[in-house]
Amino acid sequence: MLLKLKIFRFDPEKDEKPYYQTFEVEADPMDRLLDCLNRIRWEQDPTLSFRMSCGHGVCGSDGMRINGICGLACQKLVRSFKEEVLIQPLPVFHVVKDLVVDLGSFFEKYQSVKPYLINLVPPPDRERIQFPEQHQAFEEAIRCILCACCTASCPVNQSQETEGYVGPAALVRAFRYLFDSRDEASEERIGLLDHKDGAWGCQTQWKCTEVCPKEIPVTKQIGQIKKRIYENRHPKG
Ligand code: SF4
Ligand code: SF4
Ligand code: FES
Repeated sequence: MLLKLKIFRFDPEKDEKPYYQTFEVEADPMDRLLDCLNRIRWEQDPTLSFRMSCGHGVCGSDGMRINGICGLACQKLVRSFKEEVLIQPLPVFHVVKDLVVDLGSFFEKYQSVKPYLINLVPPPDRERIQFPEQHQAFEEAIRCILCACCTASCPVNQSQETEGYVGPAALVRAFRYLFDSRDEASEERIGLLDHKDGAWGCQTQWKCTEVCPKEIPVTKQIGQIKKRIYENRHPKG
């Protein structure tokens, strides 16, 4: 089938303002949108810029806005589109060139939640023991590939008034360690999350959950963080 891709273009070194360019690609219905973008870059316009690496939903680098919804180009099949598809960079972030955005602020916020295990007890000879049911508590959060689709789709992150909000991707990672039985820094983690730009910044609008390509229950996990903070403030008995 013939697919038209209407793509956001902007090269700050030569364009005064962004514009859209439409390319036509002969594609198999089972091709992925990423295949079409690659074909455009290889056969029609080598200046078209976008990120990609694995091509299989693992690296998280080809997040973009596809017909208005953020997702991974490698996970969208051509057959799911009609004649034309609109492709834009992820919102929220500054455009570097075409579909490439600057994720510096995304990773700064990610780092702010201390995305690593904190346990001062020297590791035993083998591994730190964890039972399957303890692991299950945060198993879904491990699937996160940091594609930024959730944060880009979050209405709170999209508003300039709340741009300090840490965002759903960072909160998923915070959840992952807060609920890890091997981690010893829950007090410190709660301190990092218990404020208006932390977990309380979330207005439970579910956009993050809707777009997550790894089907992580993002909003539910943020809710569990809020519950944990509340219980910490109001201990029983
Ligand atoms: S939670 Fe989902 S949408 Fe958000 S960064 Fe992780 S994988 Fe991407
Ligand atoms: S549920 Fe919270 S984090 Fe997710 S999109 Fe809505 S406001 Fe943003
Ligand atoms: S190219 Fe790696 S996730 Fe799509």
